[in-house]
Amino acid sequence: MTRSARFRKTAQSPNIASLTLDQLEAAGTLVYEAFLDIATRHNFEPPFESPEFARFLVRFLNSSEGFTSFVASEGGQPVAVNFLDERNEIAGVGPVAVSVAHQGRRLGRVVMEALLERAERFGYESVRLLQAAYNLVSFSLYSALGFEVKDGMALVRGRPRPGEHPAGVIRECEPSDLDALDGLSMEVLGFRRRGDIESVMAWTRPLLVERDGRPTGFVCRFATPDSTFLGPAVARDEETLRDLIAGAAMSTPGELRFLLPVSCPWLLRWALQGGFSLVELDTLMVRGAYEAPAGAYMPSAWY
Ligand SMILES: CC(C)(COP(=O)(O)OP(=O)(O)OC[C@H]1O[C@@H](n2cnc3c(N)ncnc32)[C@H](O)[C@@H]1OP(=O)(O)O)[C@@H](O)C(=O)NCCC(=O)NCCS
Repeated sequence: MTRSARFRKTAQSPNIASLTLDQLEAAGTLVYEAFLDIATRHNFEPPFESPEFARFLVRFLNSSEGFTSFVASEGGQPVAVNFLDERNEIAGVGPVAVSVAHQGRRLGRVVMEALLERAERFGYESVRLLQAAYNLVSFSLYSALGFEVKDGMALVRGRPRPGEHPAGVIRECEPSDLDALDGLSMEVLGFRRRGDIESVMAWTRPLLVERDGRPTGFVCRFATPDSTFLGPAVARDEETLRDLIAGAAMSTPGELRFLLPVSCPWLLRWALQGGFSLVELDTLMVRGAYEAPAGAYMPSAWY
């Protein structure tokens, strides 16, 4: 089938609802298979290390306050899913996935439009997502819906070379630090990240670096069976974020994975020349308001 013939196929506009409890396992499997398919077709690693992890994520998102699900179903079975991250004043998108057999029929657009309609209704001025740069379909879809590329991201994995130690004092974050982290996030990013810090804190405490008794950077950590994902992180400068990565490596013996903005070129060079390898390049796409950061950062899995 030619590309234009394939893309002319349209689905009848399906009803969009929230996921029901009996759809969670199938939705997790759909997410795993859709991402495995696109990654394998481009010779990249799939983002979900196992079907169990994708199913865990879907169950987690469905049961967490601050996320809304959108599902299109056929015969009660999910064929397209999407999630809106409403934990902060900026909204995040994903994972969005259409079952492999139903792709190219505008179901992706339909679950995105349902999500954007809710984001608009609730007054979000900025909706953001991360997108694998090799994924031409999702890039085209998001562009058509008004998203614009604001930064590039390098997904890296590995460990710093032995002997890399943080220059400053690093400690675990306490709930009483949250106001100061809000202040730092506002200063560097122009928005607070309290919602995602709190949800990651329920698993592992973020790390914090201080100068003169005030936090100058923090990084959240989330361990999966295979590695520890770092992010979101916010720091006054790239050297402080480097210290936090070195500190996180001291706290875990395994592999680290994180997204480094290409707008932090010094830190990216440090990582790529110092023990980390590049897994893929992603784009940060934004619909609505955006302010370039005044410091260094790592996104969450959403933005
Ligand atoms: C990405 C995904 C959600 C899109 O859903 P879909 O139902 O397949 O896509 P849709 O049919 O709604 O929309 C695709 C759009 O991209 C356009 N498109 C696709 N490839 C294109 C290309 N190479 N150049 C230009 N436009 C292209 C299509 O024409 C269509 O636009 P239209 O709505 O104006 O006709 C789906 O393919 C999927 O699940 N992929 C695997 C998981 C994934 O990649 N998720 C997104 C991660 S960021």
